[in-house]
Parts: sequence; C-alpha cells; structure tokens
Amino acid sequence: MDKLIIRGGKRLKGEVYIGGAKNAALPIMAASILASGLHSISKVPDLKDVLTMGQLLANFGAGFHYEDRNVFISTERMSKIEAPYELVRTMRASILVLGPLLARFGRAKVSLPGGCAIGARPINLHLTGLTKMGTDIKLDSGYVIAKAKRLKGASIYLDIPTVTGTENLMMAASLAKGRTLLENAAREPEVVDLANALISMGAKIKGAGESLIEIEGVDDLKPLEYSIIPDRIEAGTFMTIAAITGSEIIIKDCRPENLEALILKLKEAGLSFESFSDGICVAGLSRPRVADIKTMPYPGFPTDMQAQFMALMCVADGTSIIRETIFENRFMHVAELKRMGADISVDGGIATVKGVSKLKGAPLMATDLRASASLVVAALAAKGETTVHRIYHLDRGYEKMEEKLVKLGADVRRVKE
Ligand code: EPZ
Repeated sequence: MDKLIIRGGKRLKGEVYIGGAKNAALPIMAASILASGLHSISKVPDLKDVLTMGQLLANFGAGFHYEDRNVFISTERMSKIEAPYELVRTMRASILVLGPLLARFGRAKVSLPGGCAIGARPINLHLTGLTKMGTDIKLDSGYVIAKAKRLKGASIYLDIPTVTGTENLMMAASLAKGRTLLENAAREPEVVDLANALISMGAKIKGAGESLIEIEGVDDLKPLEYSIIPDRIEAGTFMTIAAITGSEIIIKDCRPENLEALILKLKEAGLSFESFSDGICVAGLSRPRVADIKTMPYPGFPTDMQAQFMALMCVADGTSIIRETIFENRFMHVAELKRMGADISVDGGIATVKGVSKLKGAPLMATDLRASASLVVAALAAKGETTVHRIYHLDRGYEKMEEKLVKLGADVRRVKE
C-alpha cells in the first residue's frame, strides 16, 4: 500500500489537465455488452476501477485492452453471464453490467455489491425497474439471479433519482421491446454521456439530463466508437485546492457548465473564475470566506464534492453548515480533519464547521475515495507535514494526482508503506 507525504502551506501555480470522467467511463464500458463487435472508447482515465470493469468484461469472455487512455473491447465471443463476488466487492459499479447482460443474453448472475464506507448502497430501485420490464429476479446466497426472455418497455417511477439505477435501466430499455419511460431519473452529466454513447450505438433515447427519459427499444445496436467527457469531480477538486492554498491555477479540459452549483459556492467562498475556450482560470483568496452547502441530486451541489468543500471550510473565516442528504455516512473525513486541528461537530447529516486560521499536518488515514481527496486538500494548506495512508482509495478516482500536484509546485511525495 502507498502513502502520500505532503508538506503544506505552499502557493501553487500553473496548469492542470483534467482526465476523463470515471463515472461516465464505467457505465459506457458496461454498455459495450449490448452489441457484438469491436468497441473503442477514448479519454478513459487510467484508474483501478476502469481496469476492474475490464476484468469483469473479460470474465464474461469479452476481449479487453487498455492503452494510453483508450479502451478496446471485443464482445463477439461472450459466453459467461456471472459477475463474481471477488470482483464486484472491489467495485460497486459492477452492478452496471446487470441491465446490459439481461438485455443482450436474457440472463445474469451478479453478486450483490454490498455496502461501502459511505452507506448501505441498496440496489432495490434497479431491481424493481427491471422486474417491471419483465425480469424474473431471485436473490440467492448474495447473488442477483435474473432471467428475462425479452425485456419489455415499461413506465418506471424512481423513488430516488439514482444515478446507476437510471443508467442500468436506460441500457436495459435500449434493447427492450417497446417504449420505456424513466420518471424522476438522475440528471447527472455522466447519465447524459451514457445516453449519448448509447445513441451513437443506434439507441433511441430522448430527454437524458431531464427528469423524464424516454427510450424506444430497438432490435440491435452497433459497437461503440466514443470519447468520454472530462471528470467534473476531479476539476472541482482542483478548484477547491486553488481556493484553500490561495493559488491561481488554470484548469484545462473541464466543462464549468457541469459544475454550476459548486462554482456558485466556491465564488461565495471567495474563489474568482475566468473562462477560456479550453478551460478556466481560478484564483483563491489568502483566506476563504464561509459558505453553507447542502448536497442534492444534480443539478444541486454534488455529494462527491462535499468532503473536499468541508476541508476548505475548516480554514474559512467563520462558521459554515454542511448538510449531506444523499448518503447516510459520508462524514468519515471529519475525524481525520479534526486530527489536523479542525473544529467540526456532527449531528446526524449536518456538520457545523468553525473555521480556524491554520490546520496542522498530521498522520491521517484515508477511508473512501472523496474523503481521501479532502485530506489531500487540507494537507496542502496545513502547516508542516501530513502523511495520508491507504491512498489506494484516492487512486480509484484520481489519475496520478501527486504528479499533477507536483507540476503545480506542491511538495508531495508518494512512498511505499
Ligand atoms: C453514483 O453512485 C456515483 N457512482 C457516486 O460516486 C455518487 O456519489 C452517487 O452516484 C451520487 O451522485 C457512480 O456513478 C459509479 P445513487 P450510485 O444510486 O449510483 C439510494 C464517487 O465518489 N439508493 O444515485 O450508487 C442510495 O442509498 C462515487 O465517484 C437506493 O435507496 O448512487 C443513496 O442514498 C461515490 N436504492 C441515493 O439513493 C437504489 O436502488 C443515491 O444513490 C439506489 C440508490
């Protein structure tokens, strides 16, 4: 296992290039199951979760090759339809193969993903939707065992605008017989990117990005030739780094239109923005101002940016209230930030953060992907040295973050534990 050693307090400067979006790459790779042939997907970030999805596809008999941010998948000779626990437990997004396997082969056996550090992460809405589309579903010894002669279109209301639930059902509906309506669908940019990828395969989808998505099933689809959108959460994380270190950073290949809620809050915290054709220049104050946030489904403030924004508020000039409404246990970073001298009190899903003038470096433990990002954000502004252990959590969602930070002038080293 690796750790990061960070000496904070340095002002950063320069350009950072944002990679492809992990949460768009994963469903789009799963969509390759829907069509037989050779698929190519570009701008795919070099992340552990991408390789895990590739392993899962290979496990079904597909060919998978990753080279220089391009993914090649051949799906002509897929024979197996089982996603084993050993793979699924390392990446919850494996559940995204369920809809495509059912749509293409009429059968699937997928291990239940189980919970994770941030919550129970149930998949009941995925299963209810697939049942409405004519799937027979059994849960047996930790597996979802699903069968469907041919999926049929249905009107499905999602109690919660679940991101991967919307994606699973959209993929299943693409090859179903008839029309499917997804009401209260997730509106994230990654859902839109998947819809655009499916449309490029010949799917008939209208309304992606809105709460009502209409899918007209077709009989077959053609292989993918597609390029992934930039990762808005990586871009947002670097914006927060500029804000907490009082730096001016140029963020290339990002789409600010996918980060409106976050940008509004970062402006309230004192970060200034200047847009260019191929990116955005952000500049932080010497000390951030306070801003309250409440995480909401897109287009609201993204839950995947809550931990990083909390790190920023730890050194703001006042008290801020942070409400987490999406996941039941997404404050794992609080205990670690308090070890650095942060003044945070938590009551259920509400954290009250009293800004201190300076955090102090300390040995810290990463617990989940975005919590580990928030520890890096805090460490870059803290006085002295911070060691972040178990950064395999960070590596799941950020490609070579320490290299990008060193290029900006940060004092960061990756060391083998
Ligand atoms: C996706 O997870 C993302 N992962 C998460 O990103 C992100 O935090 C989350 O959406 C919310 O934006 C991927 O896209 C691979 P949900 P997902 O289903 O789809 C409840 C990261 O950091 N729910 O939208 O699993 C659920 O418990 C990761 O990159 C049900 O109750 O999230 C949660 O409270 C972390 N039943 C809420 O809905 C269901 O069937 C939102 O979950 C499904 C979800």
